[in-house]
Amino acid sequence: MNKETPPSETNYSPPSEGLGVVSYRLAKRSNMPKTQRSKKVIADTSSNKNMQTKKIANKYDPKTILIKDYKWADVSFNIRDYGEGIPLLFIHGYPFDGSMWFRAVDILLGKSDIKLDGKLPQSRTNQCPFLKYRAIMPDLRGMGKSESPIISQDPTKNGVKIEKYADDLMELLQQLKISRPVIVVGLSMGGYIAVQFADRHKKHLAGLVMCNTKTTSDPPEVVEKRRAIIDKICSVRNNAQGVLESIADSMIPQLFASHTYRDKQDIIDEVKSMILSNNPHGVSAATWGMAERGDTTKLLENVNVPVLAIGTDEDKITPPSVVKKLAKIAKNGKYVEIHNAGHLTPMEQPEQFAIALNNFISEIEKNKEQ
Ligand code: MLT
Repeated sequence: MNKETPPSETNYSPPSEGLGVVSYRLAKRSNMPKTQRSKKVIADTSSNKNMQTKKIANKYDPKTILIKDYKWADVSFNIRDYGEGIPLLFIHGYPFDGSMWFRAVDILLGKSDIKLDGKLPQSRTNQCPFLKYRAIMPDLRGMGKSESPIISQDPTKNGVKIEKYADDLMELLQQLKISRPVIVVGLSMGGYIAVQFADRHKKHLAGLVMCNTKTTSDPPEVVEKRRAIIDKICSVRNNAQGVLESIADSMIPQLFASHTYRDKQDIIDEVKSMILSNNPHGVSAATWGMAERGDTTKLLENVNVPVLAIGTDEDKITPPSVVKKLAKIAKNGKYVEIHNAGHLTPMEQPEQFAIALNNFISEIEKNKEQ
């Protein structure tokens, strides 16, 4: 499967209709003539007004918006932006990309045949179920189709700190002119980034969802393994695809619940294709960022918004006991355990995941109204 194919065109339960997919490119400032830099958001093929109409009315219809003058970005970013309403920022895990959320987002936005609790999610205006949520699913710097600059052969100079990924996302929200606080949803490495986002950009956070993730740093043996991956990618330089294959081969048996591994070959193929489509140098940079990260338990303790921790019964990478602790660490935390899922909950059990998320957000909205 082409990993950029919207879910309506993949081989799993095609939704009958949906909102437009908008693929944003946050343009590389350094490559752009000064005269072209402006704060304006410009659609490649149509005016913003047209884009807006398409976003609400159309089927999946990838468009490109060029955002000029991305202030501190040295790279171009690939971002999927679906729907209208409460903004949800989805942060993918390692070494995947933003398309890992498609199945769950389809359900959340009411585009799938699967309904939440037997009914479509309603917008606050009750007019259109598609207008409840806006799902933003970027590829992180250097992952998926977002660019990965190679500055140096020294891995410590190419490495991306977890904090940097979080700041990229804040900048992205600004570029998208999303001023209202967002619900940040991070899976595994995405969760490491989500906590940093919560700490660094407090004012912009309405809720935090920590899925199959943790706040502890890596033990020495994991750091060693990460260093070996970085060394390998650096040593083969332009021919590092084989390293991605070995990452995929070693990760895939660990990633899934037994039921997924046995019966859901489409998901396994999709994940493998996501891993192999990455730029090895982007993967190396993220590997470095994870190895270098510190313990963020204190940061989670200080989060003032509601926190949902989602664990699964068959996660071999982040067992449910670890995820459950996150709900206790947070001031206002809740734990939900999803069954028959491994490490990739939104792909393996998208319906359960979407229900948990929808309930959590509905609760936040209800409390706001009181
Ligand atoms: C992930 O899914 O993001 C990884 O398992 C995170 C990690 O390697 O720590």
